[in-house]
Amino acid sequence: PDTRKPWGEFVTVAIEDGIAWITLNRPEKRNAINPGIVYEMNAVLDAMEENDEAKVLVITGAGEAFSAGQDLKEYFRIPDAGPPLERERLYRANAAWQWRRMMYFPKPTIAMVNGWCFGGAFQVLIACDLAVAADEAVFGLSEINWGIIPAGIVTKSVAEVMRQRDALYYIMTGETFDGKRAKELGLVNISVPRAELRERTIKLAQTLMEKNPFVLRAAKTAYHHVKAMSWESAFEYLMAKSDATKYRDPEKGDQVGMKQFLDEKSYRPGLESYKR
Ligand code: ACO
Repeated sequence: PDTRKPWGEFVTVAIEDGIAWITLNRPEKRNAINPGIVYEMNAVLDAMEENDEAKVLVITGAGEAFSAGQDLKEYFRIPDAGPPLERERLYRANAAWQWRRMMYFPKPTIAMVNGWCFGGAFQVLIACDLAVAADEAVFGLSEINWGIIPAGIVTKSVAEVMRQRDALYYIMTGETFDGKRAKELGLVNISVPRAELRERTIKLAQTLMEKNPFVLRAAKTAYHHVKAMSWESAFEYLMAKSDATKYRDPEKGDQVGMKQFLDEKSYRPGLESYKR
């Protein structure tokens, strides 16, 4: 019998008070992304999608690293020497968890960057909805240092969040920067001393958990789609998406919000969420 667990060897999951703490767990290899992490992360995302206790996902790393990027040996050297189809499958599975699924994941996702963050780890970082870094974390597009371009989808995701001068500077120099600089560059939302990282992340997750989860999902999905649309198409799409969201929202949030503000005068939507 196949006694392998879907995850637990390279990725751990702990759910506490609505937050699913998903930890890349190869600290001795600085959480470099090997096929084990790839396949376990896909299984974790499947499971978190249907687990009602997991309301917000936090992705982080064990030990000193968030992630040292793709594993040079297990993700590059070995697959490069193997059958091309196997390499293609691995790359497809990696794209699936690192951005295709993460970007559109039905629940909010936060990257909690605790330490080293290189190369392929930028894909995960940018595909998460929000990011909190430790001031002490060290980021780098180190691909140039070992003679490759930032591929996978790294260059594309960096181009989405950084300005051109900054993106090309870090792509071409491979220079590292810390959490505070990552905040200035727009790569993370918040940077705090490492000692406060977990508490600050919990606070952010709690803010998200006060909101209507169905509408949160629609809001992030709409954001990613409209970026590539014309103004006219975006207007039509957003109207349709908004109507569909109101129609399908299980808690009919818009009706509750309107009632609490207009009739009960029990809250002010400019300043807080309606009471759920
Ligand atoms: N791939 C494979 N193994 C790695 C990786 C990686 N990306 N990163 C670290 N490791 C391994 C090391 O080979 C070493 O293994 P060993 O103990 O069996 O010798 C172990 O992790 C610890 O690494 P050290 O270099 O000893 O750790 P240190 O704390 O001194 O440095 C650092 C950490 C800066 C992250 C360093 O390991 C490093 O530069 N890693 C590579 C970062 C990188 O360029 N990533 C690839 C980006 S490109 C891409 O992702 C497409």
